[in-house]
Amino acid sequence: MSPKGKGAPRQHPASSRFAHNSEEEFSRILDFYGVAWEYEPRSFTLREEDGRVLEAFTPDFYLPDLDIYIELTTLKQSLVTEKHRKLRRFQERYPDIQVRLLHRSDYLSLLAKYGYGPFSEVEVAGIHEVLITVSELERRVGELGTAISRDYQGREPLLIGLLRGVTCFMADLIRHISLPLAIDYMAISSYDGAEGGGVRILKDLEEPLLDRHVIVVEDIVDTGMTLNTLLQELQLRQPASLTVCALLDKRARRLVEVPLDYVGFEVPDEFVVGYGLDFQQKFRNLPFIATLKRGWLEAHSKTTERPE
Ligand code: IMP
Ligand code: MG
Repeated sequence: MSPKGKGAPRQHPASSRFAHNSEEEFSRILDFYGVAWEYEPRSFTLREEDGRVLEAFTPDFYLPDLDIYIELTTLKQSLVTEKHRKLRRFQERYPDIQVRLLHRSDYLSLLAKYGYGPFSEVEVAGIHEVLITVSELERRVGELGTAISRDYQGREPLLIGLLRGVTCFMADLIRHISLPLAIDYMAISSYDGAEGGGVRILKDLEEPLLDRHVIVVEDIVDTGMTLNTLLQELQLRQPASLTVCALLDKRARRLVEVPLDYVGFEVPDEFVVGYGLDFQQKFRNLPFIATLKRGWLEAHSKTTERPE
C-alpha cells in the first residue's frame, strides 16, 4: 500500500480475520472505493431468557460513513432462508438500525447507490487505489468554503479557476461560500523548458483585477512553477489582495516556494487523478482522488513529455 494523503481513515484486514473469502473480497472492494468499514463490530441480541442470550445476530460489516450494517449472503439457499428469518427478527427489535442483506452480485450496485461507483472495469483500468474518498472531499471542501466565507466577510471575492483540472473543485467550493462572489477562468500552458520556460496564457481572464480581492483556485500544486509565474503576472494587474486556494499540495516536489493560503490535502509524491484531475484527459470524472498503478504512467507517457 502506498502512503495516504491526510485524512484517509481506513481499516485494513489483518489476514485471516475473515470467516469467508467473500467477506475478504468485499472488504477489498470497499477499500478500492475508499469506503470505511469495520468487520463484525457488534452483536445484537435477538432472543433472551432470564438474562441469557439465546440468539444473537452479528452483521458482517458496519460502514460508518453510511451508518449501515451489511450482511453477506453467498451461501446455500437453505441458509439464506434462515438469515431472512434472523433479519426480520432483528428489524422488529432494532427498527432504527439500518441493515442490508447483500448477495454477491449486489456489491457494486450498493456502492453505486451511495455514489462510490460503479465504474466498469475498463474505466478503472490504470487506477491503483483511492487516496481521498468522496466523503473526505466533501467534508474538506466544505471546510475550505467556510474558512473563505469567514476570512472575506464584508468583501466580494473574485475566484479565478485554472482550467481544466479545477472543474470539480471550483463547482463544489463556491457552493460552500456564503458571500457574494464572482468567478472567472484562465487556461495556461504547463511549464515547458523547450519554449524558453515560463507560463503561456492560452485563455485570459475576462474580469479586470484592479482593486478586487482575488483568490486563485488551483487543483494541485506540484513544483510550484506554474503558480509562481502566474501570481507574478496577476500581481501586475493590481488586485486589492491576492491569495491561493489549492485542493492538493504535493509538497515533496516543490521547486519554487509559493504561498498557499488554503490547502485541502497534502498528497504524497505520486501522480493522482480524479475529481477533475486527469492523465491524458482521462479519469477527470472519477468522484474521488486516486493514484495510478505503478508502471501505468511510464507505459502510457509519450517519450519524455510531462503528462499535462
Ligand atoms: P506545477 O507547475 O509543477 O506546480 O504544476 C501544476 C500543474 O501540473 C497542475 O495544475 C496540474 O495540472 C499538473 N499536475 C501536477 N501534478 C499532477 C498530478 O499528480 N495529477 C494531475 N495533474 C498534475
Ligand atoms: Mg492545472
